[in-house]
Amino acid sequence: MTDSGWTAERMPDMTGETVIVTGANSGLGYEVTRAFARTGATVVMACRRTNHAKTMKGKILTEAPDATLDVRELDLADLSSIRAFADGFESEYDDLRVLCNNAGVMAVPRDETADGFELQFGVNHLGHFALTGLLLDALLETDGKTRVVTQSSGLHENGEMDFDDLQGEREYDKWDAYAQSKLANVLFAYELDRRLGDAGIEDVASVACHPGYASTNLQGRGPRQEGSILRLWMMRIANAVLAQSAERGALPMLYAATAGGITGGEYVGPDGLMNMRGPPSVQSSSDRSYDEVVAERLWDSSEELTGVTYDFRRSKSVSH
Ligand SMILES: NC(=O)c1ccc[n+]([C@@H]2O[C@H](COP(=O)([O-])OP(=O)(O)OC[C@H]3O[C@@H](n4cnc5c(N)ncnc54)[C@H](OP(=O)(O)O)[C@@H]3O)[C@@H](O)[C@H]2O)c1
Repeated sequence: MTDSGWTAERMPDMTGETVIVTGANSGLGYEVTRAFARTGATVVMACRRTNHAKTMKGKILTEAPDATLDVRELDLADLSSIRAFADGFESEYDDLRVLCNNAGVMAVPRDETADGFELQFGVNHLGHFALTGLLLDALLETDGKTRVVTQSSGLHENGEMDFDDLQGEREYDKWDAYAQSKLANVLFAYELDRRLGDAGIEDVASVACHPGYASTNLQGRGPRQEGSILRLWMMRIANAVLAQSAERGALPMLYAATAGGITGGEYVGPDGLMNMRGPPSVQSSSDRSYDEVVAERLWDSSEELTGVTYDFRRSKSVSH
């Protein structure tokens, strides 16, 4: 399905609604935040570097002085930070219309989170898995339809779940680890949607998306950590020549979060050249991402590793 020429101008008025965006201080997350702010929504900017996030909040306020932006600390590489964020949110907010699982790292040298998870799998997938589980009540208790949108990547198509070495302890390739984490994002988004459906919950939809190729800080982080000036320059040139703007790259997430035709279990990305740029549309993801056996196995591993279990029965929206 292509909603040709869809732009953020077509987002609904969201005055009074609350949205959480992870990684809201940079790149796509910043543009997603900016667009939601213009709709009148309260945007919780869930960020690791809160000082930088406050600077970026100030930038948005210069163009949208009435925007309501709440910077809150969230380090997805630390389960205690994720729990503290979720507790703080639940104690101060009554509802959650959209959760945007956006933050991520790409192709970085092997490192570990505070809880000993490989960094890319830990931040990109496990952190968001835990966050969503801890915010499930907020989504379920909000009147009307709510959505969880999880940012993947076209590179998920190269991904395979290596359950014998999920954390890359025996063998680590930074690109394979990224692709695995981004496949995990899609598997998670679909499995969450199936589990919500199985529990009879119709008011919460889970959707995956990808931005195509957008010029952000993502591409420079790995080369900088490796001290590779050559790779940094190659990334900069590729960004200048091939990438679309971060503003355009934010559109699939905004579409997945707000467009009327989205029901859950879809994958949204740019519709143009090689799905790297262009207006958002609903697309197919890789064959592996539809494997329900793999998705269930990933779910079980994620619950075990994070200690966060999803209890769908608590919902007042359950219809059976
Ligand atoms: N740009 C693209 O072409 C592209 C393509 C495919 C997929 N994506 C996906 O899009 C998402 C956003 O990336 P981007 O391109 O906007 O890159 P970006 O500009 O580097 O932004 C990434 C964001 O994630 C945050 N983050 C990283 N580690 C975190 C942690 N431990 N806890 C909390 N936040 C953390 C970063 O915070 P700091 O600023 O503190 O580092 C930053 O806000 C990622 O999931 C990425 O995989 C991007």
